[in-house]
Amino acid sequence: STGRILSIGSVNLDHSFRVPSIARPGETLLAESVHTGVGGKSFNQAAAARLLGGDVELVAMLGDDAAARTVEHDLRGLGIGSGRILVSRDHPTGSAFISVDADGENAIVVAQGANARLTVTGEVDAAVSEADVVLMALEIPVETVAACARRAAANGAKVVLNLSPYQPVDADLLRDCFVVIVNDHELARLLPDTATPHVTDDRAQVAAALRRRGIDRAIVTLGSRGSVVFESGEHTPVPAVRVRAVDTTGSGDAFAGAVGYGLAHGLDLVAAAALASEVGACAATRPGARPSYPTMAELEAWRRSRGDVVPT
Ligand code: RIB
Repeated sequence: STGRILSIGSVNLDHSFRVPSIARPGETLLAESVHTGVGGKSFNQAAAARLLGGDVELVAMLGDDAAARTVEHDLRGLGIGSGRILVSRDHPTGSAFISVDADGENAIVVAQGANARLTVTGEVDAAVSEADVVLMALEIPVETVAACARRAAANGAKVVLNLSPYQPVDADLLRDCFVVIVNDHELARLLPDTATPHVTDDRAQVAAALRRRGIDRAIVTLGSRGSVVFESGEHTPVPAVRVRAVDTTGSGDAFAGAVGYGLAHGLDLVAAAALASEVGACAATRPGARPSYPTMAELEAWRRSRGDVVPT
């Protein structure tokens, strides 16, 4: 069965600078290259799910500017539904300045622009009511995320929330999520009462703390150490796919988008996380955010080239 995936949230024009090292305070650096392309966590998540073959629509707010034209062009090219993209007259399309160093690590600064104005309109509501899986992150107002999650959960849709960039969220929003996705930094902020949770060696403690927080299901991503799926008190490690990272920008978004794709196609959470690990790892081997994401055919070819058995 194929479910309809709705990504609600941010779109940015990314300006990505390849630098020898991330600039320190007071330092001026010369970049080796610069590339401009469409990004933003929700655009990226939508693109990752779409490239795998998902039926995807994006709800976002853009400015009335040249960047918006670039975004619309890319959405058409990807085949992502954009009929409910909103336009702000007063605020520009979001933008992001990204430094990527020689190890593929990045530092990102986001100017939210129109993203900060995205609220629940009738169009947003209509889109939510048609979705089976709703993907969100926190680059738009948390109130909008909470309202969309409430409506989606009431309709029986599965809400996948990436708590990135981290912002405090209340218990109602967490309860309305089918699964939350966090990295280890975000987990530490989500569970401040748990003495520095070490997900790798104290999974039972993290599982208990998540339940106390009212979270039934979570995926904790650990970069090159893989991820851990927490579900109804159980915890299952998902191994990492070992790669040489060239640029990890947007790899977390690729992971979240792939989880959404997996859930929309009937995978259980552990299988969805395993697929997402591969998609995120593949994305880290190539430069950029969206341009680094694999189609399902590319993923399968990449898998064969690594000599792995193709899971059935
Ligand atoms: O996660 C990567 C994304 O973060 C970039 O595309 C940038 O726009 C910011 O949203």
